[in-house]
Amino acid sequence: MKRKQRLTIPKFKQMKVDKNPITMITAYDYPSAILAEEAGVDMILVGDSLGNVVLGYDSTLPVTIDDMVYHTRSVVRGAQDTFVVADMPFMTYHGSVDQTLRNVARLMQEGRAHAVKMEGGAEIALAVDAVVKAGVPVVGHIGLTPQSVHQIGGFRVQGKIPEDAKRLLEDAKALERAGAFAIVLELVTEEVATYISEQLNIPTIGIGAGRGCDGQVLVFHDVVTYASPYRNKKFVKTYVDVGSLIRQGISQYVQEVKEGSFPAPEHVFTAEDTVVESLYGARKQERKAETVQ
Ligand code: KIV
Repeated sequence: MKRKQRLTIPKFKQMKVDKNPITMITAYDYPSAILAEEAGVDMILVGDSLGNVVLGYDSTLPVTIDDMVYHTRSVVRGAQDTFVVADMPFMTYHGSVDQTLRNVARLMQEGRAHAVKMEGGAEIALAVDAVVKAGVPVVGHIGLTPQSVHQIGGFRVQGKIPEDAKRLLEDAKALERAGAFAIVLELVTEEVATYISEQLNIPTIGIGAGRGCDGQVLVFHDVVTYASPYRNKKFVKTYVDVGSLIRQGISQYVQEVKEGSFPAPEHVFTAEDTVVESLYGARKQERKAETVQ
């Protein structure tokens, strides 16, 4: 399933034209990146959902640029043939252009990402424009933007009233004008997301935004149930419960150590008789037999 060549921005744009859905999943470390690449995803997002599903926070707000750099670097090492987008964390692109570009540079140079993602609409268009002009590809993100969850007042579906639909469309167009090459639409009604997708030349990637987007993105730990807090979300489909398998394996290991069946003879390294004799003297044979039993 693994693709031989990393996809590029012109190819993502062509996928929209060809109606070839873009597949994206989040990953946060080397093994999850290897698995995502082997499974053949088109694009990996090192999302700041890292905060919820890996670091144990109750929101994405505590995630820092250092966290993102560290995790992006390990994802890129694991998925060398996949296009990797790194999230700009909370408040790292709301100061001066200079500060924004410094943070972007860290994700690109130290994290080795291929693009960054920024949450927000028309209000961040100037920042997006500056990043794109610095030569860094940007994915926009509108709809439910988790970094603004306190302002939005919870995880509410967006695009339920005409004013909201109009604002989302204007935001999407502002991001496209600013040079974003794709836009994530999160928790948006299907009709509004479809209309926005039709109005843009760049691809939309939906999460909880229905079937009319040009691609889909899901969080790794929602696609495969893991140990992270798992809530049943309407827009998520969970394909495999690896958490149960892992728990089962670890509890079997604990039980076997307790009862003495692990390590078994095939797991141990034995020393020559001369070594055992040098340690135990005359008791050597007896001692060696005890040890390897
Ligand atoms: O951080 C993240 O995982 C995201 C996706 C939900 C799109 O932004």
